[in-house]
Amino acid sequence: MKEKNWITYNKGGKHRVVVTKELPGPRWLEILTLADCQVDVCASNELLTRDEIISAFHNQCDGAIGQLTEDWESTVFKAFRGSGGAVYSNYAVGFNNVDVAAASKLGIPIGNTPGVLTETTAEMALALTFAAARRVVESDRFMRAGKYTGWLPTLFLGELLWRKTLGVIGMGRIGSAFSHMMVEGHKMNLIYYDLVENNQLEDYVAAYNVFLSAQGEEPVNCWRAEGIEEVFRTADVVSVHATLNETTHHLINTKGLSLMKNNAILVNASRGPLIDETALVNHCRNHPQFRAALDVYEDEPDMKPGLAALKNVVIVPHIGSATSWTRQGMATLAAANIAGVLMGYPAWQDPDITPFLGDNPPQAAPSIVNAREIGFPLYEHKH
Ligand code: DGY
Repeated sequence: MKEKNWITYNKGGKHRVVVTKELPGPRWLEILTLADCQVDVCASNELLTRDEIISAFHNQCDGAIGQLTEDWESTVFKAFRGSGGAVYSNYAVGFNNVDVAAASKLGIPIGNTPGVLTETTAEMALALTFAAARRVVESDRFMRAGKYTGWLPTLFLGELLWRKTLGVIGMGRIGSAFSHMMVEGHKMNLIYYDLVENNQLEDYVAAYNVFLSAQGEEPVNCWRAEGIEEVFRTADVVSVHATLNETTHHLINTKGLSLMKNNAILVNASRGPLIDETALVNHCRNHPQFRAALDVYEDEPDMKPGLAALKNVVIVPHIGSATSWTRQGMATLAAANIAGVLMGYPAWQDPDITPFLGDNPPQAAPSIVNAREIGFPLYEHKH
């Protein structure tokens, strides 16, 4: 295997931080440099193997920023700890690639990058939804192939979503932001499935209905489903925003798909293994009116056989969070997690992380997911 190229910044800094991919924007590096860190960045786009990650620790590695494509498991954390590893941050809000329990056992704080991806990823779910509903990708290919010979009453008929029903599975931050876009923008009814009720969202929709009624418009319905199957049966668009874990693996499978409307649209901008992709390929093959729009894949970066050939599927390469603002914000938060811990700061507790994006960031590590578990000091918020 060809050795990967590494770039060193702020050589001779007191702490050594390994960053497994180049990150966007200048701010993250400024944060680490100010914290007196030497920063070693892998300049290759290829995936680092477990051994390559471990060998990058050398005999000193105080902090590391890794990617969702890497498996940060127990052996890696043991080696990291052995090199002095004091804090790890994922360059992602999701951390299903990180063995947090193993890291916690070793007392290593684990950071992630919440808050800056919410609207961006919700906008991608929206883009995917309409690309599928209005057959944008198929039509684009048709144009480029020079097949357009003139307007026709029946050319590329799609689905109107106005006042139809949106089904959201997993009503966390991103599911909720997407729901707002579809309810307020397209007056869709909303059915959602989550283990907990989202009172904030339900109250908002109730207030929105007061506004709609005052305008002489029909209100929208919004309710939490008794079970996931009710969402499958009822919704015209089903969008998955759940966290991936053992309980949500293949949450959408052959049975679930069979309950959905023949012309439903299934969207996934969360994690690939939430959907049984082989079952989805079969379902889309047998139901040409059904559409799927995917940003993530079960065996990423690979696709299950047959998926790419399906006209009723829109596929993009895990770009849900890919706006410059978000990706720079993620880099800022990941660096602030590392710098914060190395400087002895406590862990921020407020879900609002925007103060870290401003000029005078708080003296805290913005998001340490296992802070309570490992007894890490917590920031005292003055409310
Ligand atoms: C995340 O941060 O978990 C996203 O999947 C990155 O786009």
